[in-house]
Amino acid sequence: MSNYSSLREAADNHGFRIGAALNARSLRSDPSYWKTAKNEFNAITPENALKMGPLRPSRKIYDFTDADAIIDFGRAHGMYTRGHTLVWHNQKPDWFQAWDYTDEQLEAFLRDHIHTVTGRYRDKIDAWDVVNEAIADDGTLRETVWADAMGENYLDKSFRWADEITDADLYYNDYGADAVNKKSDAIYDLLSDLLERDVPIDGVGLQCHALGDHPDPDSVAKNIRRFRELGLDVQITEMDVAFPLDDRPENPLEEQAMYYQAITEACLEAGCGALVQWGVNDANSWLRSFKDFPERFTGDPLLFDDNCDSKPAYHTVKETLADS
Ligand code: G3I
Repeated sequence: MSNYSSLREAADNHGFRIGAALNARSLRSDPSYWKTAKNEFNAITPENALKMGPLRPSRKIYDFTDADAIIDFGRAHGMYTRGHTLVWHNQKPDWFQAWDYTDEQLEAFLRDHIHTVTGRYRDKIDAWDVVNEAIADDGTLRETVWADAMGENYLDKSFRWADEITDADLYYNDYGADAVNKKSDAIYDLLSDLLERDVPIDGVGLQCHALGDHPDPDSVAKNIRRFRELGLDVQITEMDVAFPLDDRPENPLEEQAMYYQAITEACLEAGCGALVQWGVNDANSWLRSFKDFPERFTGDPLLFDDNCDSKPAYHTVKETLADS
């Protein structure tokens, strides 16, 4: 057993960032939630509050209330803050549907959005997921309103617009590309091309939503290494570990603990600088309410249970960090 009193202390002592995604509602209403967040993590990400939809209730109005609450909480407790996300095909504002825009208008809108949001948090956010999930599961460029209006060049422009305003590290973030596979190969090629074009990109976020199949940790380490060899930082940005309800292991909590340990070991060995889990505790996991996921997957994917009590995975991650 390590003599570190918290995950945060173990991570701090080894220069590693261990984080969680936060929602403002629980931060405001649940003392065990925010105490766990500040005591056990040294990094945070707003789960939804910094996305275009929540930020833009109308074309002319920004609502930063929830995002400010989360980022200010992180700053108040000396935490590394990740901004998520400036450009994504999901959670666009509801009014977007009815907007009959030209390509030029959409480009001007996106540039203004990126400048405004990165400008507000210029001295408060350490890393931004500038573009999220631009590559489709088959490895091609995902068809989005951004790609339709600006072509693949929307990535170049988005990173450059962010770089014009903030000194934060600028990340590309995606799911299903944690191990070496067709999608991560496509992302590797995309980021290589961006770097070739001197696009200001500093890192890649591997989301690591381990739900049905769990990416092989050795392949995750290999994937981390190849992005590091490109000169990019690598972070695990949205980790959770669940099992299909129709194929649950005999000892799910033990399996989960071993898998979190294996990914933490892969991170430390391959030079990944952060591991952020997608929520503070199971009760706040997106798996409890997203589409039909509650009927498909176990809903206890995180290190802390519904009551913010630590689970076996908490202890394997802490011991791994302590022994590193
Ligand atoms: O805030 C509204 C609330 O007012 C309303 O009553 C309620 C019911 O309609 O919806 C609430 O908004 C929901 C929001 O989460 C906040 O809970 C949205 O419907 C729901 O779609 C949204 O889901 C989020 C999802 O992204 C959107 O695609 C999840 O919480 C969030 O965990 C998830 O996170 C994404 C990352 O950003 C990118 N990587 C994948 C990851 C999982 O999909």
